[in-house]
Amino acid sequence: MTVRAVVRGVGHYLPERVVENEEFTRTLDTSDEWIRARTGIERRHFAARGETTSDMATRAARNALGDAGVKADEIDAIILATATPDLTFPSTATIVQARLEARNAFAFDVQAVCAGFIYALANANALLVSGQARRVLVIGAETFSRILDFSDRATCVLFGDGAGAVVLEADAGSGSTQDRGILAVDLNADGSQRDLLYVDGGVSSTGTVGVLKMLGPELFKQAVNKLAETAGTALARAGLQQGDIDWIVPHQANIRIISGTAKKLGLPMERVIVTLHDQGNTSAASIPLALSWGKENGKFSRGDVLLLEAIGGGLAWGAVVLRW
Ligand code: ACO
Repeated sequence: MTVRAVVRGVGHYLPERVVENEEFTRTLDTSDEWIRARTGIERRHFAARGETTSDMATRAARNALGDAGVKADEIDAIILATATPDLTFPSTATIVQARLEARNAFAFDVQAVCAGFIYALANANALLVSGQARRVLVIGAETFSRILDFSDRATCVLFGDGAGAVVLEADAGSGSTQDRGILAVDLNADGSQRDLLYVDGGVSSTGTVGVLKMLGPELFKQAVNKLAETAGTALARAGLQQGDIDWIVPHQANIRIISGTAKKLGLPMERVIVTLHDQGNTSAASIPLALSWGKENGKFSRGDVLLLEAIGGGLAWGAVVLRW
């Protein structure tokens, strides 16, 4: 028997405060037109003062559990992808575990920046396939507004806050490409390119939190090729081809990266979930937020093949192929 990690429920949470592009023009030499044209972003949500990554993660998790019809104490593991944890330790996942009263779950964080949710899904899949867990709650949650340099127009306009979550459950599959659930995963990293996107502070280096630094154009040049390549590898591992993809659920960094990757994969934009115009780049939260939006808006039908892909700081990148 083949065990497959099937999506049982999805949920999300976005903070109340919406920040329109226009707001940045009060303090920076920028414009709504530039931001829209170069990125596709129109607005983003920022967490309220005192609102933390675990606050948003807990709300998204509750929504996903409700959608799945699963109780918190039926969860065996919580994996939370974030680059903006509440505290240096304990993990934000354990804070969420306590709030949910998921008393039977072990919990840990995954840090792969914007690729965090893909890495977290890969970990959840491994736990489910190996029989170490039967139900895993996978969360992506970020408060990037706390690590932005609001005097740097090239980065501060790009990011937003939010959280998304999925409940994955082990299910018996046949081992064929027709099975529901995660069919293949591909993960990659290249630490020699860490200077393209990093935060200039940390516990053991500066003892500070730091702010985000990015060489956007250099990253941009690599993104489409690396995303198309990892998608191709994951598809081949799943025994599928480009033509089998029903939906791309991409990390939401830039509309030009999203459309360039879709073009390489031969899919029209009508088959791509895009949320970045309203949310900006929410790093590890962007894929589960897009999944939740897609489900809420009736995009996915049972049996559809979804390709999830992301690239971010590290560099770290990867893809997941799953059947809905
Ligand atoms: N408003 C107005 N002008 C701006 C702004 C702004 N907000 N930001 C930059 N500019 C200016 C620049 O200063 C530059 O001016 P110059 O020509 O006088 O020097 C000009 O616009 C062009 O700047 P570029 O940086 O070359 O613009 P580009 O078209 O490359 O867009 C962007 C920048 C949006 C950052 C793009 O490079 C990008 O999306 N890169 C990839 C981001 C990404 O994929 N990140 C990965 C995930 S994030 C994560 O892991 C946390």
